[in-house]
Amino acid sequence: MTVTIRDARPDDETRWRELWDAYLAFYGVTVDAGITDFTWHRVFDPASTIAMRIAEVDGDPMGFALYITHEGTWISGKDCYLEDLFVDPEARGKGVGRALMDDLVTLCKNNGWSRLYWHTSEDNRTARSLYDTYVESDGHIRYRINF
Ligand SMILES: CC(C)(COP(=O)(O)OP(=O)(O)OC[C@H]1O[C@@H](n2cnc3c(N)ncnc32)[C@H](O)[C@@H]1OP(=O)(O)O)[C@@H](O)C(=O)NCCC(=O)NCCS
Repeated sequence: MTVTIRDARPDDETRWRELWDAYLAFYGVTVDAGITDFTWHRVFDPASTIAMRIAEVDGDPMGFALYITHEGTWISGKDCYLEDLFVDPEARGKGVGRALMDDLVTLCKNNGWSRLYWHTSEDNRTARSLYDTYVESDGHIRYRINF
């Protein structure tokens, strides 16, 4: 089994939408179709700070990482925020998620970004057992108001 991580390409659209739908189903949420379209288009918009890496298993896209880079008041380089990470259930437990995480760490180092951070649900045991191998949780909790 060969796992390759690469930038998203326009021809990933159909497959990415399947993976995205499965990711939203995992969280039990719906995202307006227009927002999904907007997210997809922003990945390829040079003016946007949203970007995506795709994990291929033996040539087939089986996972993705969507991330955003932004400035920070405590750093001079960029912060990299991992917003969405997903691996097709059929490809899980084979190192694909770890390959996506390792790839982001490498991207940060190669681009001189200052930090990589992300959130997850407290009870997402599977994701947390992956994340705990990179770094301890920094103990912050999130507050968010939706408007
Ligand atoms: C979390 C997720 C991305 C992991 O992807 P994956 O390809 O299965 O992960 P890997 O095979 O690379 O496993 C990496 C580590 O995760 C942990 N892990 C993976 N599957 C696990 C399971 N079923 N139970 C417990 N831990 C597990 C292990 O610590 C594993 O470490 P190892 O490399 O020493 O075996 C995947 O389960 C997923 O997409 N889940 C649904 C979406 C989600 O939760 N995304 C993260 C939201 S923040």
